[in-house]
Amino acid sequence: MSNEKSSDLERQLESMLEIEKFEPPVSFREQALWSDPEVYEQAAADPEAWWLGQARELLDWDTEPSQALDDSNPPFYKWFADGRLNASANCLDRHVEAGRGERVAYHWRGEEGEQRDITYAELHAEVQRFANALKDLGVEKGDVVGIYLPMIPEVAVSMLACARIGAIHNVVFGGFSAESVRERMEFSEAKALVTVDGARRKGKTAPIKPAVDEQMDELASLETIVVVRHTGIDCPMREGRDVFYDEVVDAAEPECPAEPMEAEHPLFILYTSGSTAKPKGILHTTGGYMTGVTATHRYVFDLKPESDVYWCAADVGWVTGHSYIVYGPLANGATSVMWEGAPDHPHQGIWWELIQDYKATILYAAPTAIRTFIKWGAEIPEKFDLSSLRLLGTVGEPINPKAWLWYHEVIGGERCPIVDTWWQTETGAIMITPLPGITATKPGSATTPFPGVQASVVGESDGQPIETGQGLLVLERPWPSMLRGLYKEDDRFIETYFSRFGTERYLVGDAARVDADGYLWVIGRIDDVVNVSGHRLSTAEVESAIVAHEKVAEAAVIGQSDEDTGQAICAFVTLRGGTEHSDELVEDIRAVVGERIGKFARPKRIIWSDDLPKTRSGKIMRRLLRDIAEGRALGDVTTLRDPEVMAELESKIAEEADKES
Ligand code: WTA
Repeated sequence: MSNEKSSDLERQLESMLEIEKFEPPVSFREQALWSDPEVYEQAAADPEAWWLGQARELLDWDTEPSQALDDSNPPFYKWFADGRLNASANCLDRHVEAGRGERVAYHWRGEEGEQRDITYAELHAEVQRFANALKDLGVEKGDVVGIYLPMIPEVAVSMLACARIGAIHNVVFGGFSAESVRERMEFSEAKALVTVDGARRKGKTAPIKPAVDEQMDELASLETIVVVRHTGIDCPMREGRDVFYDEVVDAAEPECPAEPMEAEHPLFILYTSGSTAKPKGILHTTGGYMTGVTATHRYVFDLKPESDVYWCAADVGWVTGHSYIVYGPLANGATSVMWEGAPDHPHQGIWWELIQDYKATILYAAPTAIRTFIKWGAEIPEKFDLSSLRLLGTVGEPINPKAWLWYHEVIGGERCPIVDTWWQTETGAIMITPLPGITATKPGSATTPFPGVQASVVGESDGQPIETGQGLLVLERPWPSMLRGLYKEDDRFIETYFSRFGTERYLVGDAARVDADGYLWVIGRIDDVVNVSGHRLSTAEVESAIVAHEKVAEAAVIGQSDEDTGQAICAFVTLRGGTEHSDELVEDIRAVVGERIGKFARPKRIIWSDDLPKTRSGKIMRRLLRDIAEGRALGDVTTLRDPEVMAELESKIAEEADKES
């Protein structure tokens, strides 16, 4: 079938599905924590009071907050500002004190099949020791600690140890290159970094520490590197700076009381991509963030901590991991699965084997993973017993209805509600989502805002709310887990989120559609951010990596629709005069991007172009590049400085297509 025909069919299917709703199964609704739609009205009647109620009910405070929102200096909002609490005490101590210490916090499964069940009591003990070790190493409240680790229990321990003493963690996803780590440590002036000797992936072990060393040597602020011995691979250590995790933990005192923090004390920074090459340091604080993640984790996943086994198959290095592998689940006393490895190692059924082994009841995953499983075939999950599952979730990108239905049928056995959760690094917690015991779902729609959250779709130019139709997604009022700023970049914070429609409205950066039932359908980014397999990347970041190659004169990067990864990186590259293009050069350029950013950012497609379409003022018109890469009719070309450029590019693409067929 031609591409055009299949996408026609998909559109037809989509419009049919828009009509079909999936009601929560009666048996699910009867058992659900929330099954009465009244919760929406209660929250809407007085959102601030409602959130204050959630904060008090779901968390343990050393000093209870008396006030919800402080909006005296917009858009620098504060929540629960006179309250005091400690995030790690909320995740650990209160469960141990209540006699739940023997409950498993993480069923950890290593790449090579190793199994470790870590109880709340064990996690509590390890966190206290590592918190003391950090103190012994000179880390104090307010210092920034970088964390660059694979999916091993020590990543959660490190985050919680920081939270315990008021240090601000700055986790960098393990798939980023050491150079990206350096950049993030430099911007945040990190004092210490927790990393690993090596990382394992699909049966292979790669050294990590030598690359880290090469990058960190020039960093003046960085006083200590703590190295987790994970793979046993040879690991250079620098006297006076580097220490082994196990040694400092063994040497540390076992007790470290959690220090009460002001609700607005920074909990972490997490760098994410924006419109420019420089990543944004999203800053989250303690009380509001913990309220948002604990409430959403509990009610969106209908979490029953005594009986559920919950698995969020993300990486801790992304916000999903922060909120829904570490803070939300632990605050709720959940038992989680943590998997170190890839979805196809040692075999393509490993996820389903883990669900079967641990009798997982809730699975939270990205659409890109689901599409991969569809490609591998339903016969793989069908070999395993998935009957323990009762709820499924998705996050990170729009899910196409076909994938939604497959997830529903093949994985969920048609009995599990699906929560399609829309949110961002900036929002800290889930914002738009079904409530599984209340909301009738429509495949592909994240449905409606969580109670206490208000979203609108507004006109691009006038900012007027649109009743039905397409526009820009905005969040109408402050919410507890919202970002408090961009680390040390106040102007950029205001400019990015609060300049277009004022300080009362948060500009999301996504386009969305609202249908006649008021359901929201998120379409995708409006800025130059590309979403590859749920990984957020800025086109400018990739461009600046490509032009670092000595033979490249100029590059323009776009996100192109991709069946597997949602979007894929496509780069238009102009070489320096006299350079011949070659397959080798393609690999060279991909390698440079891998080194500078990370392997996941390498362009899937490189198109050589002698020139790029630019406006008279010299701006690259990415819209035209997207049209041409996806084989669409070209939009308006009259503003181009040199319209000929497009004709040339079109013939290049036709050549490429000829070569392929
Ligand atoms: C996209 C990930 C459609 C969106 C938690 C957003 C989604 C960006 C969904 C944030 C969803 C996330 N449906 N699109 N359910 N969830 N997105 O910061 O474009 O890595 O702005 O946070 O992912 O990505 P981030």
